[in-house]
Amino acid sequence: MDLDIDLDIGVKKLFDKNKKMVRYGIIGVGMMGREHLCNLFHLRNEGATVVCVADPHVPSQKVSLEFADSFGWPIKVFSGHKEMLDSGLCDVVVIATPNMTHYQILMDVINHPKTHHVLVEKPLCTTVEDCRKVIEAAKKRPEMLVQVGLEYRYMPPVAKLIDIVNGGRLGHVKMVSIREHRFPFLVKVDNWNRFNCNSGGTLVEKCCHFFDLMRLFVGANPVRVMASGAIDINHKNEVYDGKVPDIIDNAYVIVEFDNGARGMLDLCMFAEGSKNEQEISVIGEDGKGEAFVPENIVRYGLRIEGRDGVRTMRAEDHRIKYDGLHHGSSYLEHLNFLAAVKVDGKKAPAVDLQDGLTAVAIGVAAQLSIEKGRFVSIKEVMS
Ligand SMILES: NC(=O)c1ccc[n+]([C@@H]2O[C@H](COP(=O)([O-])OP(=O)(O)OC[C@H]3O[C@@H](n4cnc5c(N)ncnc54)[C@H](O)[C@@H]3O)[C@@H](O)[C@H]2O)c1
Repeated sequence: MDLDIDLDIGVKKLFDKNKKMVRYGIIGVGMMGREHLCNLFHLRNEGATVVCVADPHVPSQKVSLEFADSFGWPIKVFSGHKEMLDSGLCDVVVIATPNMTHYQILMDVINHPKTHHVLVEKPLCTTVEDCRKVIEAAKKRPEMLVQVGLEYRYMPPVAKLIDIVNGGRLGHVKMVSIREHRFPFLVKVDNWNRFNCNSGGTLVEKCCHFFDLMRLFVGANPVRVMASGAIDINHKNEVYDGKVPDIIDNAYVIVEFDNGARGMLDLCMFAEGSKNEQEISVIGEDGKGEAFVPENIVRYGLRIEGRDGVRTMRAEDHRIKYDGLHHGSSYLEHLNFLAAVKVDGKKAPAVDLQDGLTAVAIGVAAQLSIEKGRFVSIKEVMS
């Protein structure tokens, strides 16, 4: 009890000292929540400070306290998000809890009397229906900034390729191919990510990032999706409460867009022997661009110049002060989000709720396509 009072005094003193600081609270301090904590620490000179966290899992609380302690941040720990919101301690919340909890937490934040700006981890929610309910609720709180954590857009080679495409050098984009070849899903607290009902399914949970990128590259909205995938190698020998995981570990997904462009995702999660985790190729009428992560290389060439004209560049962003787990993209995501928060929500979020919904809808359509063995239209999953 005494310890609590000391901590409260410590937090309040910090507020008085840092009146102009933007006060963050992180809901869910597992792997990703702590990643946000570290990124925000590297943004302390830009005006970010973490003052509280909420998580019912004691080991997660303890590790986040150790991190905060090493940063000299006297954070307050809550076991639930409602107590954190009611405390009035923070202005911004970062939601980094398991996917199936995003909906209720978002609704509680949006409906809370105090305004909190929100950065919610991807996927926005696990179902289209829940995403839509969140969008409806958020319309009633226009003063709140709600950004979705689709931060792959900020990875330096990806951002550079987006610039090349937007600069028109490749001409009108016709095809986008994204290959993610990586390691299996990591172990999570209570193994929530082993089941579709918790994560939304691999193509929602993980691949919403890539569907978001496809939309950016083609500058259009999805119309229909065809996918083939299965659980072939990973997690087959794991059992949790008598149940074997049902999350797929490989898939091909084709997405057709309303301007005639096509996207293809090639996902393999038993491909540790890969040089790159993501290889992206964008082909327009006039040329082709490629991005390689984590090699941090971008290439582009024009049809009229042929192979000899292909340029190869290293992609770097000197604003990044912390690479973290996602090659500096979380740092840039926070830098952008913080800039929008500082103007008190007057700036639109870089990745808004509609972006979050569309990325989920493509993933849901892809999961359904595998189940049904046919094309699934976006209209079908949206209705
Ligand atoms: N943007 C990215 O590239 C990226 C990468 C990894 C994870 N994520 C996302 O981050 C989120 C968290 O994933 P993770 O890898 O940190 O999982 P994790 O299991 O490591 O951590 C989740 C934490 O949330 C806590 N939690 C569960 N229910 C809660 C609740 N109701 N309130 C508060 N805390 C609660 C758990 O106790 C745990 O500590 C997921 O949505 C995941 O998809 C995003």
